Amino acid sequence: MKRLDKMIALLLVLALVGCGSAPQQGAPQEGSSGAVQDQQENPAEDTQSQAGDVQSQAADKSVYMDAGQDVEARVEALLAQMTLEEKLAQMVQPEQAGITSDDVRAYGFGSVLSGGGSAPAKGNSPEDWQERVNELKAAALETRLGIPLLYGVDAVHGNNNVYGTVIYPHNIALGATGDTKLVERIGAAAAEEVRAMGIQWTFAPTLGNPQNERWGRTYECFSEDPEEVARFGAAYIRGFQGEPGTEQYLDERHILACAKHFIGEGYTADGVNQGDVAMTPEEFDALLESGVIDPYTAALNEGVRTVMVSFHSVDGVKCHENRHLIRDLLKGKLGFTGLVVSDYNAIQQLSGATYKEQVRQGIEAGIDLFMEVYVWQDFLRCARELVEEGSLDEALIDDAVRRILRVKFEAGLFEEEIGGSAEQEMLSNVGSEEHRELARQAVRESLVLLKNDSVGEKTALEALREAENIRVCGQKAYDLGSQCGGWTITWEGRTGAVTRGTTIIEGIANQVMPEKTLTHDVQGEVLPENDAVIVVFGETPYVESGGDRTEASLAMAEGDRQMLEHLKESLAGQGKQDIPVIGIIVAGRPIPVEAYLEDFDALIMAWLPGTEGEGVADVLFGEYDFTGRLQYTWVKTPADIAEKFNEGNADRILFEKGYGLNRSGERLESF
Ligand code: BGC
Repeated sequence: MKRLDKMIALLLVLALVGCGSAPQQGAPQEGSSGAVQDQQENPAEDTQSQAGDVQSQAADKSVYMDAGQDVEARVEALLAQMTLEEKLAQMVQPEQAGITSDDVRAYGFGSVLSGGGSAPAKGNSPEDWQERVNELKAAALETRLGIPLLYGVDAVHGNNNVYGTVIYPHNIALGATGDTKLVERIGAAAAEEVRAMGIQWTFAPTLGNPQNERWGRTYECFSEDPEEVARFGAAYIRGFQGEPGTEQYLDERHILACAKHFIGEGYTADGVNQGDVAMTPEEFDALLESGVIDPYTAALNEGVRTVMVSFHSVDGVKCHENRHLIRDLLKGKLGFTGLVVSDYNAIQQLSGATYKEQVRQGIEAGIDLFMEVYVWQDFLRCARELVEEGSLDEALIDDAVRRILRVKFEAGLFEEEIGGSAEQEMLSNVGSEEHRELARQAVRESLVLLKNDSVGEKTALEALREAENIRVCGQKAYDLGSQCGGWTITWEGRTGAVTRGTTIIEGIANQVMPEKTLTHDVQGEVLPENDAVIVVFGETPYVESGGDRTEASLAMAEGDRQMLEHLKESLAGQGKQDIPVIGIIVAGRPIPVEAYLEDFDALIMAWLPGTEGEGVADVLFGEYDFTGRLQYTWVKTPADIAEKFNEGNADRILFEKGYGLNRSGERLESF
């Protein structure tokens, strides 16, 4: 099913148009009640009929449709012919589930998105996506000006909304590989699986550097250290877009990346998603200068052409209305000439008392494209009224539209052949073995060995390789959905067989059977004949605010705790305390394990590895050794999180950033 809260919101919007209720996404937000009145006062047909009038006037396409012309000349030639309605339409980004091709023809939207889990109504195969995206793109070409549609999705670890695509490890795992070349290759492979469906834009990568792992988006970020984030972010962008200055850059096999979420996410108090960074503007500027801005400067140097603003606030002021950050810093000081997109319905959280006021705040702050997914008609009407009343300078609209058009020209959208041969070829390669092998390599390289004690003469992991009768315990061993985490098929992700892929236990079975005996038990029961145990445990999928945890709730899951208790009893009952017990954690962040460390002879952090679970078996039983290292400081208990970066607090740290062992138990060199 689709992103459920968003679909419910759509139904509410449809039901409430004309009766004055605020069109809200998910939980109601403060400060948006004005949308009610605005919506009542001015029905959508008004805007539509005006758009209809201008459609009868022929456009002069001689300059802007000429690929031989300079981009800026094309932008100006097109902009000069646009009516206010056509300009504003370029500035909205509806959700595909809420619009038809006729809407695209009537309004000429600048962009459309599929939010997390928003598959085409027809189905969720790559072919269904290609058909839906291309139908909407073709409709855009039928508008008076024929401005191509820019289609965006959250391909944050592969083209993850679509069934059968390759799901790569989440960014927290990619950071642990230390391998930026690999990340670049992943970006390129993921770009092909996205572009295969006609989609030209991913809202990725996330460039936050989380300071508090209670934050539900920790797994979307490469490292707590902005310098590492800068390296990995730039590599992913290079993969998505191709190398700037080469012919591959933004060609038909690449996609536009999006540096998100601007800026300072990961610093909110208590790690609260969309929360507040409790610093004065001066302190915040100093924080940015101390290195937190670096992932963005690196992204800009890498030729990133889109930036998404963050939901959070600084000193109580939402980034989406922070002119200092967007217009002065990003577009001014950093010289960004691409487009700035707002986050999902984020405008509705701004301080303005009415929706119209919020729209004005967003435009003045410097947002160009508005992800106002179901209330785009309100946006169009409010923005138009603001300009017509003289309370919003049309030059700001021109600045926004210029940027949107510039990016479309640069990305070759005006020359794009819908459903062309490159697209067809890439479609036949979606979910290919080649891409799966790349993801599997990433899984191998991302595993971090946290503990590897001696069992007899050998380390636990050496002993495991010699075992003949292996018991695998824990539900997470055969849970593809948990391996993939959030942003997989649905927005939140879910447990179970969500898509095509290999679970951890299937991967182990492929490598050790039939030579060895492999059995499993969810509860942690062992058998007299077992000579090694692998126990897989961790987190269940979550996304965004749904993943936020309190100190108390960031705990070992109750089911896992019981399973480990049972395992201990069962091992004692069988007199098997001397066989190696190998723990594998499947989770999107460092979780509290100190109290359980003694239960394992070896402990491996596998993060959220994605669909290619066999990468785990490659290192356990194959020819590969552990090379991953932590990009995060791993504390002993959740109560230590708030203090972990303070001097003199070494006793609060369980594993420091850079930590990782190899199979022989040696410490790897840190980053
Ligand atoms: C997230 C963004 C995402 C957007 C579109 C928002 O809820 O914060 O990261 O790109 O949705 O799906």
